[in-house]
Amino acid sequence: MLVIAHRGASGYAPENSLTAIAKAIEMQVDAIEIDLHCIEGELLVIHDRWLHRTTRASGQLRDYSLEALRQIDAGDGHPIPTLWEVLSLIDGQTDLNLELKCENALLPTLKTLDRAVTEQNFTPGQFLISSFNHHLLNESVTIQPKYATGALTASCPIDYATFAQTLGCYAIHLDIDFVNQAFVKDAHQRGLKVFVYTVDEPADIAFLEELGVDGIFSNYPDRALHSVKQSG
Ligand code: G3P
Ligand code: CA
Repeated sequence: MLVIAHRGASGYAPENSLTAIAKAIEMQVDAIEIDLHCIEGELLVIHDRWLHRTTRASGQLRDYSLEALRQIDAGDGHPIPTLWEVLSLIDGQTDLNLELKCENALLPTLKTLDRAVTEQNFTPGQFLISSFNHHLLNESVTIQPKYATGALTASCPIDYATFAQTLGCYAIHLDIDFVNQAFVKDAHQRGLKVFVYTVDEPADIAFLEELGVDGIFSNYPDRALHSVKQSG
């Protein structure tokens, strides 16, 4: 079972900050998940459209110029990171799951990943693009099939594995509240991986290992790594 640091090691440092990413690398996680918004063509690593939860600023991302956004502290004394800064920090040391939070993020993301494969120590297989916006996944597979995609769902739609297969996805990213044995079996029979979010409690980690899911997103990836090592 892979351990994916959710928004970096966000239980220990501000989510989606360079500090949280660096901590996850130190923990030797299998992958890191980040959230992406796009402003003036630049990809910013931040979860919400609204700034107040994770920064000291107020209002929405779209209320600011890129230059002004880059002055805002992400909670760790550094500006809200760009995707390129995150890629430069990781530089192939772990895999990266890029969750697209807005429609205009897809094309710049594909372009930036191409650049990372050329200029940094990444291979295309280290990237996984995911989104709750399934139109974007469809588009991603059509434009650039070399980057795997993961279909996110926050509920339990009927025949979701069939749907994800139709989209050409590599994985399904499922809320822990909806995962069960039949779902995992169906996904696996269709050749899809199952990654579950957000998993921080040792009992949940053990349950999901037992269920045979392929990976979990955790804010405390060290707990999950410890548990996976013990059982494996
Ligand atoms: O990618 C898994 C999880 O991060 C999806 O939900 O709201 O935490 O971005 P959210
Ligand atoms: Ca996310």
